[in-house]
Amino acid sequence: MEKNFLVIGGGGREHAIADKLSRSKYCKKLWIAPGNPGTLGFAQNLSINITHPDEVVVTCLEHDIDIVVVGPEAPLMEGVADELKRNGIAVIGPTRDGALLEGSKVFAKTFMQKYRIPTASYHFFDRTTIQEAKAYLKEAKYPLVLKASGLAAGKGVVTCESYHFAKSILEQMLNGTLVGEAGETVVIEEFLNGWELSMFILTDGQNYLLLPEAKDYKRIGEGNTGPNTGGMGSVSPVLLLTPELKQTIIQKVIEPTLSGLKKEKIDYQGFIFFGLMIVQNEPYVLEYNVRMGDPETQSVFTRITSDVGEMFISVAEKRLNQYILSVTSQTAVTVVSVSEGYPGSYEKEKAIYLPKSTPKDIFIYHAGTKIKENQLISNGGRVLNVTALGDNLADAIHKAYKFNENIVFSNKYYRKDIGQDLLVLENL
Ligand code: AMP
Ligand code: GLY
Repeated sequence: MEKNFLVIGGGGREHAIADKLSRSKYCKKLWIAPGNPGTLGFAQNLSINITHPDEVVVTCLEHDIDIVVVGPEAPLMEGVADELKRNGIAVIGPTRDGALLEGSKVFAKTFMQKYRIPTASYHFFDRTTIQEAKAYLKEAKYPLVLKASGLAAGKGVVTCESYHFAKSILEQMLNGTLVGEAGETVVIEEFLNGWELSMFILTDGQNYLLLPEAKDYKRIGEGNTGPNTGGMGSVSPVLLLTPELKQTIIQKVIEPTLSGLKKEKIDYQGFIFFGLMIVQNEPYVLEYNVRMGDPETQSVFTRITSDVGEMFISVAEKRLNQYILSVTSQTAVTVVSVSEGYPGSYEKEKAIYLPKSTPKDIFIYHAGTKIKENQLISNGGRVLNVTALGDNLADAIHKAYKFNENIVFSNKYYRKDIGQDLLVLENL
Protein backbone atom coordinates (compact mmCIF):
# COMPACT_ATOMS: atom_id res chain seq x y z
CA MET A 1 0.00 0.00 0.00
CA GLU A 2 3.00 2.36 0.46
CA LYS A 3 3.73 4.56 -2.54
CA ASN A 4 6.51 6.69 -3.96
CA PHE A 5 5.43 10.31 -4.35
CA LEU A 6 6.73 13.25 -6.38
CA VAL A 7 5.62 16.79 -5.59
CA ILE A 8 6.07 19.31 -8.42
CA GLY A 9 6.97 22.86 -7.44
CA GLY A 10 9.32 24.61 -5.08
CA GLY A 11 7.43 27.31 -3.20
CA GLY A 12 5.74 27.55 0.17
CA ARG A 13 2.66 25.73 -1.11
CA GLU A 14 4.65 22.71 -2.25
CA HIS A 15 6.78 22.79 0.90
CA ALA A 16 3.60 22.59 3.02
CA ILE A 17 2.12 19.75 0.94
CA ALA A 18 5.39 17.81 0.93
CA ASP A 19 5.86 18.32 4.66
CA LYS A 20 2.50 16.63 5.32
CA LEU A 21 3.24 13.86 2.80
CA SER A 22 6.57 13.12 4.45
CA ARG A 23 4.68 12.36 7.67
CA SER A 24 2.30 9.91 5.92
CA LYS A 25 2.51 6.26 6.81
CA TYR A 26 1.73 5.53 3.14
CA CYS A 27 4.71 7.47 1.81
CA LYS A 28 7.59 5.11 1.00
CA LYS A 29 9.82 7.73 -0.56
CA LEU A 30 9.30 11.38 -1.38
CA TRP A 31 10.80 13.45 -4.19
CA ILE A 32 10.18 17.10 -4.95
CA ALA A 33 11.06 19.00 -8.12
CA PRO A 34 12.67 21.42 -7.75
CA GLY A 35 11.90 21.72 -4.02
CA ASN A 36 13.81 24.23 -1.90
CA PRO A 37 16.36 24.24 0.93
CA GLY A 38 13.57 23.66 3.43
CA THR A 39 12.47 20.40 1.79
CA LEU A 40 16.00 18.92 1.81
CA GLY A 41 15.50 17.60 5.30
CA PHE A 42 12.66 15.23 4.44
CA ALA A 43 12.52 14.80 0.65
CA GLN A 44 14.91 14.37 -2.22
CA ASN A 45 15.08 17.53 -4.34
CA LEU A 46 15.26 17.02 -8.09
CA SER A 47 16.42 19.64 -10.53
CA ILE A 48 14.29 19.04 -13.63
CA ASN A 49 12.28 21.17 -16.02
CA ILE A 50 8.80 20.78 -14.57
CA THR A 51 6.98 22.23 -17.59
CA HIS A 52 8.43 19.57 -19.92
CA PRO A 53 6.00 16.64 -19.79
CA ASP A 54 8.54 14.16 -21.18
CA GLU A 55 11.15 15.11 -18.63
CA VAL A 56 8.66 14.65 -15.79
CA VAL A 57 7.62 11.22 -17.10
CA VAL A 58 11.22 10.03 -17.54
CA THR A 59 11.99 11.15 -13.96
CA CYS A 60 8.99 9.22 -12.65
CA LEU A 61 9.95 6.05 -14.50
CA GLU A 62 13.54 6.35 -13.33
CA HIS A 63 12.54 6.63 -9.65
CA ASP A 64 9.54 4.31 -9.78
CA ILE A 65 7.18 7.11 -8.73
CA ASP A 66 3.54 6.08 -8.27
CA ILE A 67 1.77 9.39 -7.62
CA VAL A 68 2.64 12.93 -8.73
CA VAL A 69 1.14 15.93 -6.93
CA VAL A 70 1.34 19.06 -9.10
CA GLY A 71 1.58 22.36 -7.20
CA PRO A 72 1.54 25.16 -9.83
CA GLU A 73 -0.70 25.62 -12.89
CA ALA A 74 1.96 26.00 -15.60
CA PRO A 75 2.93 22.29 -15.81
CA LEU A 76 -0.77 21.40 -16.03
CA MET A 77 -1.34 23.80 -18.91
CA GLU A 78 1.71 22.29 -20.62
CA GLY A 79 0.14 18.84 -20.45
CA VAL A 80 2.19 17.21 -17.69
CA ALA A 81 -0.88 15.39 -16.32
CA ASP A 82 -1.88 14.19 -19.80
CA GLU A 83 1.54 12.67 -20.35
CA LEU A 84 1.72 11.09 -16.88
CA LYS A 85 -1.70 9.49 -17.34
CA ARG A 86 -0.71 8.18 -20.77
CA ASN A 87 2.19 6.46 -19.06
CA GLY A 88 0.04 4.95 -16.32
CA ILE A 89 1.31 7.25 -13.56
CA ALA A 90 -1.30 8.67 -11.17
CA VAL A 91 -1.45 12.45 -10.95
CA ILE A 92 -3.15 14.94 -8.67
CA GLY A 93 -3.85 17.75 -11.12
CA PRO A 94 -6.05 17.92 -14.20
CA THR A 95 -5.24 17.19 -17.82
CA ARG A 96 -5.13 20.13 -20.20
CA ASP A 97 -8.86 20.12 -20.90
CA GLY A 98 -9.60 20.65 -17.18
CA ALA A 99 -6.70 23.08 -16.70
CA LEU A 100 -8.50 25.47 -19.06
CA LEU A 101 -10.73 26.42 -16.14
CA GLU A 102 -7.73 28.48 -15.02
CA GLY A 103 -5.79 28.83 -18.27
CA SER A 104 -8.59 30.50 -20.22
CA LYS A 105 -10.97 33.01 -18.68
CA VAL A 106 -13.06 32.77 -21.86
CA PHE A 107 -13.44 29.02 -21.25
CA ALA A 108 -14.18 29.55 -17.54
CA LYS A 109 -16.79 32.27 -18.09
CA THR A 110 -18.52 30.32 -20.87
CA PHE A 111 -18.54 27.24 -18.64
CA MET A 112 -20.05 29.23 -15.74
CA GLN A 113 -22.72 30.71 -17.95
CA LYS A 114 -23.60 27.32 -19.44
CA TYR A 115 -23.95 25.67 -16.03
CA ARG A 116 -25.55 28.70 -14.35
CA ILE A 117 -22.76 29.23 -11.84
CA PRO A 118 -22.97 32.75 -10.40
CA THR A 119 -20.26 35.06 -11.69
CA ALA A 120 -19.89 38.74 -12.63
CA SER A 121 -21.59 39.66 -15.92
CA TYR A 122 -19.10 39.98 -18.78
CA HIS A 123 -18.30 40.47 -22.46
CA PHE A 124 -15.35 39.19 -24.52
CA PHE A 125 -13.43 41.20 -27.08
CA ASP A 126 -10.38 40.57 -29.24
CA ARG A 127 -8.39 42.53 -31.84
CA THR A 128 -11.13 42.11 -34.43
CA THR A 129 -13.73 43.68 -32.12
CA ILE A 130 -11.65 46.47 -30.58
CA GLN A 131 -14.03 49.18 -31.83
CA GLU A 132 -17.01 47.43 -30.21
CA ALA A 133 -14.93 47.08 -27.02
CA LYS A 134 -14.24 50.83 -26.93
CA ALA A 135 -17.88 51.63 -27.59
CA TYR A 136 -18.82 49.28 -24.77
CA LEU A 137 -16.33 50.94 -22.40
CA LYS A 138 -17.70 54.37 -23.26
CA GLU A 139 -21.21 53.44 -22.17
CA ALA A 140 -20.22 51.24 -19.21
CA LYS A 141 -20.59 51.90 -15.51
CA TYR A 142 -17.35 52.32 -13.50
CA PRO A 143 -15.45 50.81 -11.81
CA LEU A 144 -15.19 47.75 -14.03
CA VAL A 145 -12.61 45.02 -14.40
CA LEU A 146 -10.51 44.08 -17.44
CA LYS A 147 -9.06 40.59 -17.53
CA ALA A 148 -6.63 39.02 -19.97
CA SER A 149 -8.04 35.63 -20.88
CA GLY A 150 -4.78 33.66 -20.67
CA LEU A 151 -2.34 32.89 -17.84
CA ALA A 152 -0.69 36.16 -16.83
CA ALA A 153 1.04 35.42 -13.51
CA GLY A 154 -1.26 37.69 -11.52
CA LYS A 155 -0.82 40.68 -13.85
CA GLY A 156 -3.83 40.05 -16.04
CA VAL A 157 -6.57 41.65 -13.92
CA VAL A 158 -6.96 45.42 -13.78
CA THR A 159 -9.73 47.35 -12.04
CA CYS A 160 -10.53 50.53 -13.96
CA GLU A 161 -12.14 53.65 -12.50
CA SER A 162 -12.56 55.61 -15.73
CA TYR A 163 -13.12 55.22 -19.46
CA HIS A 164 -9.72 56.68 -20.33
CA PHE A 165 -7.83 54.31 -18.10
CA ALA A 166 -9.89 51.31 -19.25
CA LYS A 167 -9.33 52.20 -22.91
CA SER A 168 -5.58 52.40 -22.38
CA ILE A 169 -5.47 49.04 -20.53
CA LEU A 170 -7.64 47.45 -23.22
CA GLU A 171 -5.24 48.62 -25.94
CA GLN A 172 -2.19 47.41 -24.02
CA MET A 173 -3.77 44.02 -23.41
CA LEU A 174 -4.89 43.52 -27.00
CA ASN A 175 -1.61 44.68 -28.56
CA GLY A 176 0.42 42.35 -26.37
CA THR A 177 2.43 44.99 -24.47
CA LEU A 178 0.86 44.33 -21.06
CA VAL A 179 0.81 40.53 -20.70
CA GLY A 180 1.86 39.20 -24.10
CA GLU A 181 -0.29 36.56 -25.77
CA ALA A 182 -2.41 36.11 -22.64
CA GLY A 183 -4.13 39.38 -23.57
CA GLU A 184 -5.22 38.37 -27.08
CA THR A 185 -8.74 38.10 -25.75
CA VAL A 186 -10.00 40.41 -23.02
CA VAL A 187 -12.92 39.87 -20.66
CA ILE A 188 -14.66 43.05 -19.49
CA GLU A 189 -16.41 42.32 -16.25
CA GLU A 190 -18.83 43.96 -13.89
CA PHE A 191 -17.11 45.09 -10.66
CA LEU A 192 -18.36 43.17 -7.64
CA ASN A 193 -18.23 44.77 -4.22
CA GLY A 194 -18.05 42.30 -1.34
CA TRP A 195 -15.55 40.22 0.61
CA GLU A 196 -13.26 37.59 -0.86
CA LEU A 197 -12.96 33.98 0.17
CA SER A 198 -10.90 31.06 -1.14
CA MET A 199 -12.61 27.66 -1.12
CA PHE A 200 -10.88 24.43 -2.12
CA ILE A 201 -11.93 20.95 -3.07
CA LEU A 202 -10.06 17.82 -4.03
CA THR A 203 -11.84 15.50 -6.46
CA ASP A 204 -11.19 12.06 -7.92
CA GLY A 205 -13.62 12.70 -10.79
CA GLN A 206 -16.56 11.12 -8.93
CA ASN A 207 -16.30 12.14 -5.31
CA TYR A 208 -14.96 15.28 -3.72
CA LEU A 209 -13.66 16.51 -0.39
CA LEU A 210 -14.26 20.02 0.83
CA LEU A 211 -10.97 21.30 2.26
CA PRO A 212 -10.77 24.11 4.83
CA GLU A 213 -11.44 27.59 3.47
CA ALA A 214 -8.98 30.47 3.68
CA LYS A 215 -8.55 34.16 3.13
CA ASP A 216 -5.47 35.48 1.41
CA TYR A 217 -3.87 38.92 1.36
CA LYS A 218 -2.73 39.74 -2.16
CA ARG A 219 -1.65 43.38 -1.96
CA ILE A 220 1.84 44.38 -0.88
CA GLY A 221 0.73 47.12 1.51
CA GLU A 222 -1.09 47.13 4.80
CA GLY A 223 -4.83 47.79 4.58
CA ASN A 224 -4.82 46.03 1.16
CA THR A 225 -3.04 48.84 -0.66
CA GLY A 226 -0.44 48.90 -3.43
CA PRO A 227 0.20 46.38 -6.21
CA ASN A 228 -0.83 42.74 -6.26
CA THR A 229 1.73 40.13 -5.26
CA GLY A 230 1.89 36.36 -5.26
CA GLY A 231 0.36 36.58 -1.76
CA MET A 232 1.51 38.17 1.50
CA GLY A 233 -0.34 36.04 4.03
CA SER A 234 -3.34 33.84 4.72
CA VAL A 235 -5.76 32.77 7.43
CA SER A 236 -7.80 29.59 7.89
CA PRO A 237 -10.57 29.10 8.98
CA VAL A 238 -12.61 32.18 8.06
CA LEU A 239 -15.35 32.48 10.65
CA LEU A 240 -17.38 34.82 8.40
CA LEU A 241 -18.18 31.67 6.42
CA THR A 242 -21.34 30.55 8.22
CA PRO A 243 -22.69 27.01 7.79
CA GLU A 244 -25.56 28.48 5.72
CA LEU A 245 -23.22 30.32 3.37
CA LYS A 246 -21.08 27.20 3.04
CA GLN A 247 -24.17 25.22 1.98
CA THR A 248 -25.08 27.91 -0.56
CA ILE A 249 -21.56 27.74 -2.03
CA ILE A 250 -21.75 23.95 -2.25
CA GLN A 251 -25.16 24.06 -3.96
CA LYS A 252 -24.66 27.02 -6.27
CA VAL A 253 -20.96 26.77 -7.09
CA ILE A 254 -19.17 23.54 -6.20
CA GLU A 255 -21.69 20.91 -7.25
CA PRO A 256 -22.69 22.61 -10.54
CA THR A 257 -18.97 22.94 -11.38
CA LEU A 258 -18.37 19.22 -10.82
CA SER A 259 -21.47 18.17 -12.74
CA GLY A 260 -20.50 20.61 -15.53
CA LEU A 261 -17.08 18.98 -15.79
CA LYS A 262 -18.75 15.57 -16.10
CA LYS A 263 -21.14 16.85 -18.78
CA GLU A 264 -18.16 18.24 -20.69
CA LYS A 265 -16.56 14.77 -20.35
CA ILE A 266 -13.58 16.19 -18.50
CA ASP A 267 -12.23 13.49 -16.19
CA TYR A 268 -10.83 15.76 -13.47
CA GLN A 269 -8.54 14.53 -10.69
CA GLY A 270 -7.05 17.24 -8.55
CA PHE A 271 -7.72 20.39 -6.64
CA ILE A 272 -10.14 23.12 -7.61
CA PHE A 273 -9.69 26.51 -5.99
CA PHE A 274 -12.77 28.72 -6.14
CA GLY A 275 -11.87 32.40 -5.83
CA LEU A 276 -15.15 33.84 -4.57
CA MET A 277 -16.59 37.29 -3.95
CA ILE A 278 -19.39 37.23 -1.39
CA VAL A 279 -21.91 39.98 -2.15
CA GLN A 280 -24.79 40.31 0.31
CA ASN A 281 -24.30 36.72 1.43
CA GLU A 282 -24.36 35.34 -2.11
CA PRO A 283 -21.26 33.79 -3.70
CA TYR A 284 -19.91 34.81 -7.13
CA VAL A 285 -16.96 33.04 -8.77
CA LEU A 286 -14.18 35.49 -9.62
CA GLU A 287 -11.90 32.77 -10.89
CA TYR A 288 -11.18 29.09 -10.90
CA ASN A 289 -7.69 27.81 -10.25
CA VAL A 290 -6.81 24.20 -10.97
CA ARG A 291 -4.43 23.95 -8.03
CA MET A 292 -4.22 25.03 -4.42
CA GLY A 293 -3.52 28.67 -3.57
CA ASP A 294 -0.23 30.03 -2.34
CA PRO A 295 -0.08 31.13 0.52
CA GLU A 296 -3.52 29.65 1.37
CA THR A 297 -2.11 26.11 1.28
CA GLN A 298 0.36 26.94 4.01
CA SER A 299 -2.56 27.68 6.35
CA VAL A 300 -4.97 25.03 4.97
CA PHE A 301 -2.59 22.05 4.87
CA THR A 302 -1.06 22.87 8.22
CA ARG A 303 -4.53 22.36 9.72
CA ILE A 304 -5.03 18.89 8.18
CA THR A 305 -4.50 16.16 10.78
CA SER A 306 -5.51 13.08 8.76
CA ASP A 307 -3.03 11.23 6.53
CA VAL A 308 -2.43 13.25 3.35
CA GLY A 309 -0.68 10.32 1.61
CA GLU A 310 -3.83 8.25 2.07
CA MET A 311 -5.86 11.19 0.72
CA PHE A 312 -3.86 11.30 -2.53
CA ILE A 313 -3.92 7.50 -2.89
CA SER A 314 -7.72 7.65 -2.49
CA VAL A 315 -7.87 10.13 -5.39
CA ALA A 316 -5.60 7.95 -7.55
CA GLU A 317 -7.79 4.92 -6.82
CA LYS A 318 -11.02 6.91 -7.26
CA ARG A 319 -12.32 6.06 -3.82
CA LEU A 320 -12.11 9.43 -2.14
CA ASN A 321 -15.54 8.73 -0.63
CA GLN A 322 -13.78 6.30 1.72
CA TYR A 323 -11.29 8.85 3.01
CA ILE A 324 -12.07 10.75 6.18
CA LEU A 325 -10.54 14.20 6.29
CA SER A 326 -9.69 15.52 9.75
CA VAL A 327 -8.83 19.12 10.39
CA THR A 328 -7.76 20.78 13.63
CA SER A 329 -10.18 23.36 14.98
CA GLN A 330 -7.15 25.57 15.62
CA THR A 331 -6.61 28.67 13.48
CA ALA A 332 -3.64 28.94 11.14
CA VAL A 333 -2.07 32.26 10.20
CA THR A 334 0.65 32.56 7.58
CA VAL A 335 2.87 35.62 7.27
CA VAL A 336 5.05 35.89 4.17
CA SER A 337 8.39 37.70 4.36
CA VAL A 338 9.53 39.21 1.10
CA SER A 339 12.55 41.10 -0.23
CA GLU A 340 12.07 44.88 0.09
CA GLY A 341 11.05 46.25 -3.31
CA TYR A 342 8.97 43.22 -4.32
CA PRO A 343 6.78 42.96 -6.46
CA GLY A 344 9.03 45.46 -8.27
CA SER A 345 12.79 45.00 -8.39
CA TYR A 346 14.64 43.82 -5.30
CA GLU A 347 18.04 42.57 -4.19
CA LYS A 348 18.70 38.88 -3.68
CA GLU A 349 21.39 36.81 -2.00
CA LYS A 350 20.93 38.23 1.50
CA ALA A 351 22.02 35.91 4.29
CA ILE A 352 19.04 34.51 6.21
CA TYR A 353 19.28 33.62 9.89
CA LEU A 354 16.69 31.23 11.30
CA PRO A 355 16.17 30.37 14.96
CA LYS A 356 17.86 27.13 16.06
CA SER A 357 14.60 25.56 17.16
CA THR A 358 11.00 25.90 16.09
CA PRO A 359 8.08 25.37 18.51
CA LYS A 360 5.69 22.59 17.54
CA ASP A 361 2.91 24.98 16.56
CA ILE A 362 5.15 26.97 14.18
CA PHE A 363 6.06 25.95 10.63
CA ILE A 364 8.60 27.61 8.36
CA TYR A 365 7.88 27.06 4.68
CA HIS A 366 10.53 28.27 2.26
CA ALA A 367 9.74 30.04 -1.02
CA GLY A 368 12.62 32.07 -2.50
CA THR A 369 15.67 30.68 -0.71
CA LYS A 370 18.81 28.82 -1.71
CA ILE A 371 22.01 27.61 -0.14
CA LYS A 372 25.32 29.12 -1.18
CA GLU A 373 28.58 28.19 0.51
CA ASN A 374 26.69 26.57 3.38
CA GLN A 375 24.68 29.72 4.04
CA LEU A 376 20.91 30.07 3.50
CA ILE A 377 20.32 33.14 1.32
CA SER A 378 17.33 34.86 -0.30
CA ASN A 379 16.66 33.98 -3.91
CA GLY A 380 13.31 35.54 -4.79
CA GLY A 381 10.63 38.10 -3.99
CA ARG A 382 8.69 35.97 -1.57
CA VAL A 383 11.35 34.47 0.68
CA LEU A 384 9.83 32.60 3.63
CA ASN A 385 6.45 31.81 5.15
CA VAL A 386 5.83 31.50 8.86
CA THR A 387 2.66 29.60 9.70
CA ALA A 388 1.42 29.47 13.28
CA LEU A 389 -1.38 27.41 14.78
CA GLY A 390 -3.25 29.05 17.63
CA ASP A 391 -6.36 28.41 19.69
CA ASN A 392 -8.09 31.31 17.98
CA LEU A 393 -7.29 33.97 15.41
CA ALA A 394 -5.78 36.43 17.89
CA ASP A 395 -3.53 33.73 19.33
CA ALA A 396 -2.36 32.51 15.90
CA ILE A 397 -1.63 36.09 14.77
CA HIS A 398 0.35 36.73 17.94
CA LYS A 399 2.41 33.54 17.55
CA ALA A 400 3.11 34.02 13.84
CA TYR A 401 4.38 37.58 14.34
CA LYS A 402 6.34 36.81 17.48
CA PHE A 403 8.22 33.99 15.75
CA ASN A 404 8.66 36.00 12.57
CA GLU A 405 10.74 38.52 14.54
CA ASN A 406 13.38 35.82 14.94
CA ILE A 407 13.84 35.42 11.20
CA VAL A 408 16.47 37.86 10.08
CA PHE A 409 17.64 38.98 6.64
CA SER A 410 18.75 42.41 5.63
CA ASN A 411 16.00 43.65 3.28
CA LYS A 412 13.11 41.80 4.90
CA TYR A 413 9.58 43.23 4.55
CA TYR A 414 6.27 41.77 5.69
CA ARG A 415 2.75 43.03 6.23
CA LYS A 416 1.94 43.62 9.89
CA ASP A 417 -1.84 43.33 9.47
CA ILE A 418 -2.48 39.76 8.31
CA GLY A 419 -5.79 38.64 9.85
CA GLN A 420 -6.53 42.02 11.48
CA ASP A 421 -9.58 42.74 9.30
CA LEU A 422 -11.09 39.38 10.23
CA LEU A 423 -10.33 39.98 13.87
CA VAL A 424 -12.44 43.14 13.72
CA LEU A 425 -15.26 41.57 11.67
CA GLU A 426 -15.43 38.41 13.74
CA ASN A 427 -15.81 40.42 16.91
CA LEU A 428 -18.67 42.54 15.58
P1 AMP B 1 -8.80 36.98 -10.54
O1 AMP B 1 -7.40 36.59 -10.98
O2 AMP B 1 -9.80 36.91 -11.63
O3 AMP B 1 -9.24 36.31 -9.26
O4 AMP B 1 -8.68 38.49 -10.08
C1 AMP B 1 -7.67 38.93 -9.17
C2 AMP B 1 -8.27 39.84 -8.14
O5 AMP B 1 -8.94 40.94 -8.77
C3 AMP B 1 -9.34 39.17 -7.30
O6 AMP B 1 -8.80 38.48 -6.24
C4 AMP B 1 -10.18 40.36 -6.87
O7 AMP B 1 -9.58 41.02 -5.77
C5 AMP B 1 -10.12 41.27 -8.07
N1 AMP B 1 -11.28 41.04 -8.96
C6 AMP B 1 -11.35 40.17 -9.98
N2 AMP B 1 -12.56 40.21 -10.58
C7 AMP B 1 -13.28 41.12 -9.93
C8 AMP B 1 -14.61 41.63 -10.05
N3 AMP B 1 -15.43 41.22 -11.04
N4 AMP B 1 -15.01 42.57 -9.18
C9 AMP B 1 -14.20 43.02 -8.21
N5 AMP B 1 -12.93 42.60 -8.03
C10 AMP B 1 -12.46 41.66 -8.87
N1 GLY C 1 -3.28 33.11 -3.44
C1 GLY C 1 -3.85 33.17 -4.72
C2 GLY C 1 -3.32 32.22 -5.68
O1 GLY C 1 -2.61 31.29 -5.36
O2 GLY C 1 -3.66 32.35 -6.86
